[in-house]
Amino acid sequence: MIIGLANSKGGVGKSTLARNLVVYLNDLGFSTALVDAEEYAPTATLLKNFDSNLILRSATSLDGIDDEVQELSESGHHVIIDAPGKEGDQVSTLCLLSDLVLIPLCVSEQDLLQTVGVINLVRRQQRRSEGGKPDASIVLTRTLKNDIAVPSVRENLLRYGIPVADTEIRERIAIKRNTSVMRDKRFGGKDGPATDVQSLVAEIILPRLNNEQRVSNE
Ligand SMILES: Nc1ncnc2c1ncn2[C@@H]1O[C@H](COP(=O)(O)OP(=O)(O)OP(=O)(O)O)[C@@H](O)[C@H]1O
Ligand SMILES: [Mg+2]
Repeated sequence: MIIGLANSKGGVGKSTLARNLVVYLNDLGFSTALVDAEEYAPTATLLKNFDSNLILRSATSLDGIDDEVQELSESGHHVIIDAPGKEGDQVSTLCLLSDLVLIPLCVSEQDLLQTVGVINLVRRQQRRSEGGKPDASIVLTRTLKNDIAVPSVRENLLRYGIPVADTEIRERIAIKRNTSVMRDKRFGGKDGPATDVQSLVAEIILPRLNNEQRVSNE
């Protein structure tokens, strides 16, 4: 499965989520590579220092991203693409290539307005493609405890036609400070910072991976 993380708004937690997803999916036994489509490849660089066994690639051109993703998926890997936080070739390519686009979004009316660009791109691609690909989900990120704005932003999002994951990635200092929180026992306890990523994977990614496996076995 090819999972793209994208938002036309920058700084919403795409790369942070990408790092944690790559580590966690590999730990669950799903061989998952990263294609870092950001200039200077910050996500790939951090992950390389964290675990040199991870499969990490960097490409910023349309053809480069396409080549890396094709090669990795043909050799049996799942792929996560981390796009830069702006509209452009990388995000358009990501929408074309992905089976699932995750759209991280911070809870603010302004961020929501700046996210409309990527939402429209995904919707357009869904209309054009056979089978409505890519599947997509908005993920609220950096949410605060008891934030009264969350229900109204969820309500506002209903009109855009892309479902919002029940799981939120909460604002946690450990998530900010660590390349990944997924292997550190201190972060995995009940309600620890790792649990949000685990819940998101259980809610959004595992059902699709299992479905993909079932279809390929038929
Ligand atoms: N759950 C979280 N808790 C606390 N801080 C977070 C969380 N997620 C992201 N951050 C912080 O928010 C900032 C932006 O995160 P990140 O770089 O992942 O966003 P991005 O969407 O990839 O940005 P860009 O558009 O520039 O690529 C970083 O300082 C990161 O540490
Ligand atoms: Mg980023």
